[in-house]
Amino acid sequence: MKPEHETPLKLGVLISGSGTNLGAILSAVEAGRLSASVALVISNRVDAFGLERAAKAGVATKVLPHREFASRELFDQALVSALKEAGVEWVVLAGFMRVVTSVLLDAFPDRVLNVHPALLPSFPGVDAQAQALAYGVKWTGCTVHFVDSGVDTGPVIVQKVVPVLADDDRDTLAKRILVEEHQALVEALQLIAAGRVLVEPGPRRRVRVRP
Ligand code: GAR
Repeated sequence: MKPEHETPLKLGVLISGSGTNLGAILSAVEAGRLSASVALVISNRVDAFGLERAAKAGVATKVLPHREFASRELFDQALVSALKEAGVEWVVLAGFMRVVTSVLLDAFPDRVLNVHPALLPSFPGVDAQAQALAYGVKWTGCTVHFVDSGVDTGPVIVQKVVPVLADDDRDTLAKRILVEEHQALVEALQLIAAGRVLVEPGPRRRVRVRP
């Protein structure tokens, strides 16, 4: 199905830093490769460079410093209020360095996506690139998945593989993975926009991509 026949996804993107994944979404929307609009970008850090990318693209931004909230749940409640107020229907965690709670997940059931810099279930959690180097794997990559109540668990939508080279350090590896993250994230959103992503019911909850 061509993008013009699809209902555009109304996205809210949560960031904590540079926001290159946000940039990939904005470029794909701008180029007409992704049937979506970014209604709101929220950062938990006031100095996140991604806020400037959003502003440049004319996208509304909001800063919610997590330290100002007494609990993760109260922080997530503020996220939900802002996202709902902006009319967001799908939430993308794009380099968002906070663990989310059921407060966010219940407000957007099977509609919260995360991009992680490893081939899950390998290397969940913090600094997956350094974990991969420390383990000595020869291949790693990235994963776009629906978020569930675990940390970097949840149904996998798209994965991309990259080699780990002999002279890699954390930064060279992270850069190579990031290029693939940008592709994988846009691809996952394109599949969702085309109505091709189905989370199978039942305990295993795998993603089936319709042809
Ligand atoms: C990306 O590598 C993303 O996968 C990672 O942070 C980076 C953000 O880059 N996220 C996590 O590690 C979350 N567990 P960006 O701000 O340039 O999109």
